[in-house]
Amino acid sequence: MDCKYNFIYESQKATAEFFIFVSMIDDDFSLKLIKWYSENKRNLPWRESKNPFKIWISEIILQQTKVDQGLPYYLKFIKKFPNVHDLAIADENMVLKLWQGLGYYSRARNLHYSAKYISNHLNGEFPKTYNELIKLKGVGKYTASAIASFAFNEKKAVLDGNVFRVLSRYFGIEDPIDTTSGSKIFENIAFINLPKKNVDTYNQSVMEFGALQCKPVKPNCNSCPLNSKCFAFNNNKILCLPIKSKKIIKKERFFNFIILKSEKFIFLEKRIKNDIWKNMYQFPLFEEPIESFSPPKDLIKTSILSKKTEVTHLLTHQKLNVTFWEFEIKKLFQNKKYERIEIKKLNEYAVPKIVENYINQNISIHRL
Ligand code: ADE
Repeated sequence: MDCKYNFIYESQKATAEFFIFVSMIDDDFSLKLIKWYSENKRNLPWRESKNPFKIWISEIILQQTKVDQGLPYYLKFIKKFPNVHDLAIADENMVLKLWQGLGYYSRARNLHYSAKYISNHLNGEFPKTYNELIKLKGVGKYTASAIASFAFNEKKAVLDGNVFRVLSRYFGIEDPIDTTSGSKIFENIAFINLPKKNVDTYNQSVMEFGALQCKPVKPNCNSCPLNSKCFAFNNNKILCLPIKSKKIIKKERFFNFIILKSEKFIFLEKRIKNDIWKNMYQFPLFEEPIESFSPPKDLIKTSILSKKTEVTHLLTHQKLNVTFWEFEIKKLFQNKKYERIEIKKLNEYAVPKIVENYINQNISIHRL
């Protein structure tokens, strides 16, 4: 498979770009995608609604999350918060608790922030245009285009990971998707290939096609309605496209969680810094490599170490080496930095997945 880039020299770029764009208008593309969609689409609840609030919730959940994983969260969320006011008046811990396990918790905090903004400053009226939508915290180009087209039929093209892949393979775009100049090219090509009507259906079609047919690995090229004109298929470049210029480098961190537990009580702290898991709860944390760490004496002086568990947890940009040090408290313990909570209420607190897993595997909540 030949994955070399096609170079166009700077001086010829502007003229070349114009002709390239014109040559990339292909009416067949959207027509065939919409037909494919009518025959293959999944029935998903947010597709049955023109309600911008519901579409917004679904699109934020589906960022960085597959449909199968996101669907139960969407259903829980809409049940608990049927409209923007219900979300606006909710307690942040409850919003984060419903989001628990989905990751990228800033999405939930931003949803909550923007719901309060819409409820309190826009009289509960959801913004109706791309230009207004993009002003909301947590709403970028993709989400603004999705809501504007799905809820209000505005002529905006959505570009998410699935769409980048479909466009780059079909049209043979070898510019990196993660650079400003590259994404501009994709935006232009996406825009000029929008159908004259039914932009909402087309946007759903191209995303669904990327998710189900034009998959990252093992795409179903032989049964693909676009294969006769697909650049990647016809040039043996399916697995070379799309191109990304940057490799994600994971930062390594060392977390020591101290679990201080008596028969009925346990201690938690709230993460308040601008870091992962902001505003969520955890066991008292000390960030230090395990080789040099020993639990602070003032914390554990009346406790006995009962268990030590080491696990690794991968996030998109971080590798966490986590050690849980579990102590049984033998005498009354107080510490202003930590909240003493009843073990039976542990499930009311929004905690990161790694902490949730530990609780589920090691702490029995219901025996009390
Ligand atoms: N991924 C992002 N948005 C989606 C949608 N509306 N339907 C299916 N998958 C999606």
